[in-house]
Amino acid sequence: MGKFIINGQKPLGGQIRVGGAKNAALKIIPASLLSEQAITIDNLPDIEDTKRCLEIVEALGGTASYREGQCQIETKTLATTRIPADLANKLRASIMFVGPILARTGQVSFPHPGGCVIGAGTRPIDLFLEGFQALGAKINFANGYYELTAKKLTGAEYFFTTVSVTGTEALMMTATLANGRTTLKNCAMEPEIVALADYLNNQGAKIEGAGTPIITIDGVDKINGGAFTVIPDRIETGTFAMLAAASQSELLITDCCPEHIEILLNIFRKQGVNFEQGENWLKMLPSKKIEAYSIKTHEYPGFPTDLQSPYTVLMTQAHGSSIIHETIYDRRLLFTDMLTQMGANIIMCDPHRVVVNGPTPLHGRKLTSPDLRAGIAMVMAALIAQGKTEIDNIYQIERGYENIAERLKLIGADIERVE
Ligand code: EPZ
Repeated sequence: MGKFIINGQKPLGGQIRVGGAKNAALKIIPASLLSEQAITIDNLPDIEDTKRCLEIVEALGGTASYREGQCQIETKTLATTRIPADLANKLRASIMFVGPILARTGQVSFPHPGGCVIGAGTRPIDLFLEGFQALGAKINFANGYYELTAKKLTGAEYFFTTVSVTGTEALMMTATLANGRTTLKNCAMEPEIVALADYLNNQGAKIEGAGTPIITIDGVDKINGGAFTVIPDRIETGTFAMLAAASQSELLITDCCPEHIEILLNIFRKQGVNFEQGENWLKMLPSKKIEAYSIKTHEYPGFPTDLQSPYTVLMTQAHGSSIIHETIYDRRLLFTDMLTQMGANIIMCDPHRVVVNGPTPLHGRKLTSPDLRAGIAMVMAALIAQGKTEIDNIYQIERGYENIAERLKLIGADIERVE
């Protein structure tokens, strides 16, 4: 098992490039199964989750070649319609393969997906199952596997009783091959959903309304292969920006999309965090004093739950009290007890709310990363803490942040990755 050794409070600065968005990549790879033609994906991040995704493509009988950010996938023939449990257990996004296999072959079987430990219990998939049933699938559960069958999917209307990002993406991509019109209501509006819809429309799909709460899809007979460039990772962008703010660093963040983190930038302005922005860059500048500001996580364009952990670290360095209200996941604030052990002044009001009082100096200690966003927040805390920090279970961090130790070294961090 790898771990990071970090000596904190080194001056940071310079320039860092944002990679392709993990949560766009993990959808376009399964979506490639909708077509028998090859797909080329550019700017694909080289992270554990995309490697697992490409392993699933190969386990299904497809071919996937990956070199320096570019990937070529071909799934002309599928050798099986069963998603392998060992891979599905590592990756919640494995469920994104279910719809395309079902739409293409009329059957699919898969285990309950694994992945992060942040959701209630084992991260429910009821919305996916209801949605596939609405499109005409029959569902059986036997020997730990869901088995879905559908001669031909037929368009339907489906209302999401909980806004779900992957639920929206799964039904949107699957409905492209159903007979007739599908109307999805109360959809998520994340930029990754718009990017996926734009790609599918370029390859012959008929999707309207992606990025709004109502998406309509008129089924077509086939989807062509083509070329997709993964959009910049807005969560990496926000995380690097908050690291710069918390460490009073001047940092140029390139190849990003500032408009995708508009909510954070507007909060920065209210807090007195200095920055300049361009079309695809963000320049963080040292700020004299950062005011505390309370947040409540919300679906896009609200405050992303994936930026909540780094933001909580930033609030330990802000002046005053802030309430962090995590509305999406049940366990995404549990990591704050490790920040408290590092010297932060954090009061847990209930599983969804903490009060952070700042600023407080942090000191290094041994930590374990429970999920990838809490993990990167611990790296951020370690970089601004006095002394040495050791973070193990870094697979959870390397699932979502490519080559993160080397990239942080380039901006001045004293961080070593050791086995
Ligand atoms: C996506 O997860 C992201 N993952 C998450 O990022 C992100 O935190 C989340 O959206 C919210 O923005 C990917 O895109 C691969 P949800 P997703 O379905 O789609 C409940 C990261 O760190 N729900 O929007 O799985 C669920 O329990 C990851 O990169 C059901 O009840 O999240 C949660 O409370 C973590 N039934 C809420 O919906 C379902 O069938 C929102 O979850 C599905 C979800």
